[in-house]
Parts: sequence; structure tokens; C-alpha cells
Amino acid sequence: MSRERTFLMMKPGILQRRLVGEVLSRIERKGLKLIALKLMRIDDELVRKHYAEHIGKAFYEKLAEYTVSGPVVAMVAEGDDAIAVMRRLIGPTDVAAALPGTIRGDFAFHTRLNILHASDSATSAEREIPLFFKAEEIQDWTDGNERWF
Ligand code: CMP
Repeated sequence: MSRERTFLMMKPGILQRRLVGEVLSRIERKGLKLIALKLMRIDDELVRKHYAEHIGKAFYEKLAEYTVSGPVVAMVAEGDDAIAVMRRLIGPTDVAAALPGTIRGDFAFHTRLNILHASDSATSAEREIPLFFKAEEIQDWTDGNERWF
């Protein structure tokens, strides 16, 4: 078990469908600690950097267009094994395989519009977090409970 940070991004459909609070509350109820959060509009350059590994794939152009089509909510969450915990909470990328009870299982119907992005590894999180947040936008706070973990 290791203390990790993960980058999360609610895609434009979440705001359009007024699901921000619902998704945020699932992340918080699980116990992950939010250390950065902002509503922002991302541009073509940032989307290319963020989804660099998908450039050239059949779904890329529409994914990029969709991601810049409205505001997104960018976040950093922290916790023990936060990357794996968060990916289980969200469910798999392929929404047809996402079980009810997961965020994608409950709210997503199209894989390209799959609601929420979460880093898939510690290496991805380290690359993605500084694309969206300056160091001073990340709050390193504690509720004191870490000493019992
Ligand atoms: P995300 O976790 O944001 O990371 C890459 C995104 O590409 C993914 O969520 C989906 O939105 C999209 N994606 C990945 N695979 C496919 C696919 N096979 N078809 C359509 N979109 C995809």
C-alpha cells in the first residue's frame, strides 16, 4: 500500500447533466481526499498533451472535440492506493463492461463520453497533474486521521 495522488477530470457531459455533485460525493464518500479542484475550459493544445497516447486512434478526433466542447472539472485526489481505488470506483473504460454501482456503470452509456477520466498509473498521474495544476493550486492538508492508517 502506498500513498498516491491521482488526476481526475469530469468531462463536459457531467456538467451538462448536472451530475458534478453526485460524482464528487461518491469520490468523497469513499474517503479519498481532494487536494485540488477547478472548473475550467481546456484548449486544443492541452487536450493533445493530455490524450497524447491516443492521437492517431480511430476515436481520437471525436474524443478531443468532445473534451473541449464545454467546461470540465479537474481534480487531484489523494489516498492509499488512490489510483487503483479510484479506477475501481469509476469502473472500466468500456462502459458496456462497467457494473452498476460504479460511476460509469450508473451514469455512462457511450465509451467516448465515459464521464470521468482517472489516471491509469502513477506515471500517468505524475505527467497529468502538472498539465492542469500549478504547484500552488494543490493543497497539502491533513485531517489528522493518517496517523491511524
Ligand atoms: P479516459 O479515461 O478519459 O481516457 C481515454 C479516453 O478515450 C477514454 O476515457 C474514452 O473516453 C476514450 N476511449 C478509449 N477507448 C475508446 C474506444 N474504444 N472508443 C471510443 N472512445 C474510447
